[in-house]
Amino acid sequence: MKGVLVIHCGAGTWRNVDEGTIKKVMLDALRRGVNSLESGGSVLDAVVEATMSLEDSGVLNAGLGSVPDLRGNISMDAGVMDGWSGRAGAVAAVTYPKNPVLLARKVLELTDHVLLAGSAADELAAKLGLPKHPGPSERVKKRYEEVLKKAFSGDATFRKSLELAQKLGYFDTVGAVALDGEGRLAAAVSTGGVILKFPGRVGDSAIPGAGFFANKYGAAVATGIGETIMMSMLSLRAVSLVSEGFLADTAARLAIQYHTSLYGRDTAGLIVLDYRGNAYGAYNTQAMPWGYAKAGTEEVVISGFKKS
Ligand code: GLY
Repeated sequence: MKGVLVIHCGAGTWRNVDEGTIKKVMLDALRRGVNSLESGGSVLDAVVEATMSLEDSGVLNAGLGSVPDLRGNISMDAGVMDGWSGRAGAVAAVTYPKNPVLLARKVLELTDHVLLAGSAADELAAKLGLPKHPGPSERVKKRYEEVLKKAFSGDATFRKSLELAQKLGYFDTVGAVALDGEGRLAAAVSTGGVILKFPGRVGDSAIPGAGFFANKYGAAVATGIGETIMMSMLSLRAVSLVSEGFLADTAARLAIQYHTSLYGRDTAGLIVLDYRGNAYGAYNTQAMPWGYAKAGTEEVVISGFKKS
């Protein structure tokens, strides 16, 4: 076994999307991450490469495709974790980097800290010479105008942004987990957060244990309504179940079942990979496109476009 890479493109309602485009984006990300594993890269390289590919697609809620907040601005969260060392790096509410996941990796590798936030994190990205985010794309600006009109034409207020996102056909966050031939695991996640969020809002993707987690037994990345995922510590829960001996599919299902019992349906999804190479995606939303590829083989599986 030369390694496995698993990705997801976000849990949500996934209405009005071109499935063909998303599948192509997923295949590109899987190929980029697996190429990295096959050419001797670390598991951290693989999950970061795959996540950067998803961030750069511009059609998912992360990196270039990040959704706007109430003021029409974007701010992003991201995190990475290396299961072997148990170290994590994360950034919250950043606006500078085109690839927030790359900045999260720099936090892990260059600092003694786990989480850097806001303008100081942006300053670090600039000092390190990371590529700058061009700001909201025309597509994102157009969507902002449409969404804003809908938000304030009914009874919705800024307190209703989560409900509104669900009505509008939201999808959320991208992420990747990987295992290499030596049995090392890693996780990476990146998001633009929730559409029309209150400026300054930070979600689960910046919080180890909530939006992402990896140890020597498993790795998981969550997606969905961050306000609920932070409370159920969804990724930690799934990896804890794997650490107790459950296979990835059972751990993913049990973690989502627990989450649903607390916060209801249409709130979350996650991908889980165990140290034996089993991969699974579970969700309580309408859909959560996810897939995996095995290094050294042609095996690629894409799933999750339908209700589970
Ligand atoms: N799951 C991403 C967020 O709520 O920010």
